[in-house]
Amino acid sequence: MPRIGLIGGTGIYTPQLMENALERVESTPYGDAKVMIGNSEGVEVAFITRHGSKHSLPPHLVNYRANIMALKQLGVELIIATAAVGSLHLDRRPGEYVLADQFLDFTKTRKTTFFDGGEQGVTHCDMTIPYCTYVRSAIEKAGHAIGLKIHNGGTYVCTEGPRFETAAEINMFKMLGGNLVGMTSVPEVCLARELGICYGNISIVTNHAAGIAPHILTHAEVIEVMKNSMNDVRYLMKESLKYLSGPRDCVCSSIGQQGGARLS
Ligand code: HPA
Repeated sequence: MPRIGLIGGTGIYTPQLMENALERVESTPYGDAKVMIGNSEGVEVAFITRHGSKHSLPPHLVNYRANIMALKQLGVELIIATAAVGSLHLDRRPGEYVLADQFLDFTKTRKTTFFDGGEQGVTHCDMTIPYCTYVRSAIEKAGHAIGLKIHNGGTYVCTEGPRFETAAEINMFKMLGGNLVGMTSVPEVCLARELGICYGNISIVTNHAAGIAPHILTHAEVIEVMKNSMNDVRYLMKESLKYLSGPRDCVCSSIGQQGGARLS
């Protein structure tokens, strides 16, 4: 059973770090999820590409619940997810990595919980520290070991997308304490917490956000930076596995259980 799940965001469509990878479709009460299962660093891992192999799924239409439930059903306890982000500040440059430790949720239309009442009941999950400290510390150690410029901590502002932000929105996010802006980490991180799964995010800075950058933003710019970063990101995920073999030294599993999380 894979203990570790990897979720590849923009630019990371294949794991290329797994041996003997096999694709399977995992059915969940929320829909099907395509998962590749294989070995990396002697560890069994499960990989999901969030936007589909051809980036055909926009952020607001990703079936986050099916993806996270599929990983849970397969036995995953820890997730490393990647996300392309814009930086709200000039001191975080394209090509740098930030491990988000907080988020601000500006999404609008997504299914954000497994607990919709009825048979599932209602639950209010603690989200004081949304991103797992154990996973973050593993990724940080791995990043330093392989010489990447990596910053542990930053507030991820999650927007609905798929459009980029206005300069005024970015200005507001800055005033609210945001550091990074992206379109996918919420509700992924919340759903993982509801099921007691540890979740860490590798944010890859692909651009300065709207109004911070001196030019108009394009998706091509994001893809170009991701192309240059993807080998390093895959290497970082693979190296991180070495630091995730011990017991989970964090609160995620107990919070998920208190929230009443269960497989349906
Ligand atoms: N805004 C939102 N999402 C993003 C950005 C951005 O500037 N860059 C990469 N993903």
